[in-house]
Amino acid sequence: MSDDVILKVNDLHTYFFTESGQIRALSGVDFTLQRGEVLGIVGESGCGKSVTAQCIMNMVPNPGRIMGGSINYYRRANGQVEEIDIINQHPRGRVMRSLRGNDIAMIFQEPMTSLDPVYTVGSQLLEAITLHQDVTKVEAREVAIDALAKVHLPEPHRIIDSYPHQLSGGQRQRVMIAIALSCNPSLLIADEPTTALDVTTQAQILDLMQELQEATGMSIIFITHDLGVVAEMCDSVAVMYLGKVVEKTDVDSAFYDPKHPYTRALLRSIPRMDEQKNSRLAVIKGNVPDPSVVPLGCPFHPRCPEYMPGICNQVVPSMIELENDRAVRCLLYDKNQVQTPQPVAA
Ligand SMILES: Nc1ncnc2c1ncn2[C@@H]1O[C@H](COP(=O)(O)OP(=O)(O)O)[C@@H](O)[C@H]1O
Ligand code: SF4
Ligand SMILES: [Mg+2]
Repeated sequence: MSDDVILKVNDLHTYFFTESGQIRALSGVDFTLQRGEVLGIVGESGCGKSVTAQCIMNMVPNPGRIMGGSINYYRRANGQVEEIDIINQHPRGRVMRSLRGNDIAMIFQEPMTSLDPVYTVGSQLLEAITLHQDVTKVEAREVAIDALAKVHLPEPHRIIDSYPHQLSGGQRQRVMIAIALSCNPSLLIADEPTTALDVTTQAQILDLMQELQEATGMSIIFITHDLGVVAEMCDSVAVMYLGKVVEKTDVDSAFYDPKHPYTRALLRSIPRMDEQKNSRLAVIKGNVPDPSVVPLGCPFHPRCPEYMPGICNQVVPSMIELENDRAVRCLLYDKNQVQTPQPVAA
């Protein structure tokens, strides 16, 4: 992995101002992504994974607003590195259009909603290709067929003239990947790209993404609620809980030496091969609280098996830097807070 940074997200706050109140979707997200790194962002539903992606694309929907923090993208061009301050760009301005067109691409969970049902796969792919490459119509069709072959779609000459509904979910996701990669992005954000697929197709799409990452060296932010997918795909992981990153670590440490009680709880909830298909997984006690009423102190304290009364319900943990570039947001590791850590069951 190269040393240099492609994206830096710092203390990002994003709120939704709804009729029923203010939802603090992100309340201090921090992470740094290196060039060529595959970072998994993981956490239960509602913890702010998709909103983080929307912020990076500067596409937060109404009634959402980025309230603070920064997102910097480092574009490499002609041997120079240009720093782009994403949240201070106009969402539809020249800089953001150029970033979305040339640097950062995104794929989503359900390709049917991203592909237009009334146009053929070919015309949607051709549109993306002619936007980025200076080619004639005839050449563009060849480039498109080639792009479909690269994502291992069978009979690309036939598929190019198909409509999205004529393809399977896995084939549609391959088309989306081909479209996303047509701009040769340096950063791909994949938001639950395999969640809607069956297990076999999911494994095939993960293999394909891994192959394309190795071939291109692009960085990937891989958003998922599934730590099994992280193990398969990622170099590092950012675990999110209620709009904050609570643990950032390399992927091996996340599995073999998780520090945050929430990461440990997530690990216990991964399905195992030796368990019966429909047996119940260990679930994390309680539900994710509503982000409009975040608990005092550590937001995880009502669910935490290592809760320390009088500390965890009063002090908001800050990110503690550990060795080997690891960081954890938990008072168990805060020397100023914990003289004699005595975890007590909540
Ligand atoms: N368009 C929206 N309007 C209001 N609230 C939203 C909107 N999008 C997301 N949220 C809220 O922001 C929080 C984070 O959502 P999200 O990032 O989608 O979670 P996930 O981790 O499942 O991707 C949730 O509480 C969600 O309800
Ligand atoms: S700060 Fe306390 S409640 Fe929060 S995760 Fe750490 S031990 Fe659990
Ligand atoms: Mg999501």
